[in-house]
Amino acid sequence: MNAESFASIAALVRARSGIVLTPDKEYMLDTRLAPILKQEGIASLDALALRLRDVRAEPLARAVTEALTTNESSFFRDGKPFDHLRRLLPKLMAMRPAGHRPRIWSAACSTGQEAYSVAMILTDLAIRQAEIIGTDLSREVVARAREGLFTQFEVQRGLPVQYLVKHFRQESGKWRVAQDLRNMVRFEERNLLGEHRALGRFDVIFCRNVLIYFDPPTKGKVLNALAAQLAPDGVLYLGGAETVLGLTDRLTAVPGERGVYAPAIQRAAAS
Ligand SMILES: C[S@@+](CC[C@H](N)C(=O)[O-])C[C@H]1O[C@@H](n2cnc3c(N)ncnc32)[C@H](O)[C@@H]1O
Repeated sequence: MNAESFASIAALVRARSGIVLTPDKEYMLDTRLAPILKQEGIASLDALALRLRDVRAEPLARAVTEALTTNESSFFRDGKPFDHLRRLLPKLMAMRPAGHRPRIWSAACSTGQEAYSVAMILTDLAIRQAEIIGTDLSREVVARAREGLFTQFEVQRGLPVQYLVKHFRQESGKWRVAQDLRNMVRFEERNLLGEHRALGRFDVIFCRNVLIYFDPPTKGKVLNALAAQLAPDGVLYLGGAETVLGLTDRLTAVPGERGVYAPAIQRAAAS
């Protein structure tokens, strides 16, 4: 593929998702876009780049962008944020009026393991009345998350066996999340680069292992938008390789808690 074609596909993906593709990622285009070339009968990546210049190629542009997202996820990924959430929720609930339904957003939820992990913690804490929303740019992973059907490999990664027994049912060689847990979570397509005001305020936001794909100005913009949706005493969880440092002054690290952030003005419940 020529450099101009690479640059134009990279620019399209960046504008649509924030994901930065540097020239060393050219191999990714070869492997990830091959099925699209085949399906659409397009001869080469250069021909694809040309096709994408047509404004009528919107579905193709979407498919290309989605193919270049990385959807790696697992249940209770990295452990610590979920341990923190387990300690945080009772404190948060004690500060809310009786009957408050905690609102938790798994932004960039991929296939849903993060949102379902949160639902399992809420169940342990006997918090049945909660709102958990999982969102992702990719239509395909949102559909998979909604389905709640996981392979043996996926449930073996990070999911304690007692949770597998309690919250999953075997189905055609896979594992289906039990209906009561699925009822606690809603999944929808949403681009982190967009406007989130309509989602309302959250007590807790997970936005993990996605900012790593963005450039610093985009990270800052997304973090500010997330901060705007967070309750003043709410908490934001980022991935282990992510930070707010130098990107926004609206959020601050919770001391001694890696990957845990709070609105800069207050962090009473989080620490
Ligand atoms: C590596 S997964 C992280 C999943 C989960 N948060 C975790 O930590 O296990 C990154 C996800 O971010 C999504 N993503 C990438 N760019 C996005 C954007 N602009 N808006 C929403 N989601 C995006 C991808 O589709 C992918 O599913």
